[in-house]
Amino acid sequence: MKSIILTGDRPSGRLHLGHYVGSLENRVLLQNDYEQYVMIADVQALTDNFENPQKITESVYDIALDYLSVGIDPEKTSIFIQSQIPEITELTIYYMNLVNLGRLERNPTVKNEIKQKGFNEGIPAGFLCYPISQAADITIFQAEYVPVGEDQVPMIEQTNEIVRRFNRIYQTECLKECKAILSKTGRLVGIDGKAKASKSLGNAIYLSDSPEEIKRKVFQMYTDPEHIHVQDPGKVEGNVVFSYLDAFHQDKEEVEELKAQYRKGGLGDVTIKKILLKTLTELTTPFREKRELFSKKDVQDILFSGTQKAREKANVTMELVRKSIGFSYFS
Ligand code: TRP
Repeated sequence: MKSIILTGDRPSGRLHLGHYVGSLENRVLLQNDYEQYVMIADVQALTDNFENPQKITESVYDIALDYLSVGIDPEKTSIFIQSQIPEITELTIYYMNLVNLGRLERNPTVKNEIKQKGFNEGIPAGFLCYPISQAADITIFQAEYVPVGEDQVPMIEQTNEIVRRFNRIYQTECLKECKAILSKTGRLVGIDGKAKASKSLGNAIYLSDSPEEIKRKVFQMYTDPEHIHVQDPGKVEGNVVFSYLDAFHQDKEEVEELKAQYRKGGLGDVTIKKILLKTLTELTTPFREKRELFSKKDVQDILFSGTQKAREKANVTMELVRKSIGFSYFS
């Protein structure tokens, strides 16, 4: 039997190259060796967008198409929509009893998000509790591995605490602890050189961008503001073009040679941008071609059957969970 993997994304906009190196690339490989579930976390996305649900519902389809375009194969991976599995919500409620408020308030990722979002009417309970529902997402599939970014590690720790507590209190072994798989590449910087490529900063290259958009963004990239003439020595650190070459260029030796030449002087920004553009065009052309193969109806069918499969799996765990608590009155 294959081990189970569960990952997910909040649908709050299209996916970009940062998502590709951070997780999607990995999922395309992992699907061959694992039973993989990929969740479009609309319920979680609602916790900080509950007043704008259309922002979420509109991106569900976009994200599914992004997955398919990079090679996530619906025959190997179940792509599903979180809200369509009500058992996750049921499990969340049972888990809520097992977590103290203080523990939730200490979660460093949630703390950061609270600061960023500046909830001025106070923190919605749903938002503070999303790590509990994330624990339900993971454990309802009996997932052994959860490929995520560094910022999600506190969620995995929280999940395992809940698992241990549930199993102890209800004298069962029906829940499994899980492990994070961290991606080797760190965060991808935005084209403006800001710390992170993100939709809200408008500094990301999207998987669905046209060749013209990619070209425009590459030529806009922040380099070294003091590298004015081609023959001037240039800085590689903090230079976005080199960060992207590091992340995407296949030939690492060639990148090192380019860096050396750039540092010494004699290599122009236009030249390195052209090299990067070629690299990104080669990477994304197959994505655009694949995207064209799926109609809206195809995507809907894929999401429907992925959700059905996921729900069956979730139900197996829920039967055990209800039985462990003693909520099995009619069987
Ligand atoms: N919290 C994740 C993010 O913001 C999305 C997510 C929801 C998730 N449920 C999950 C990730 C379960 C991994 C496992 O990107």
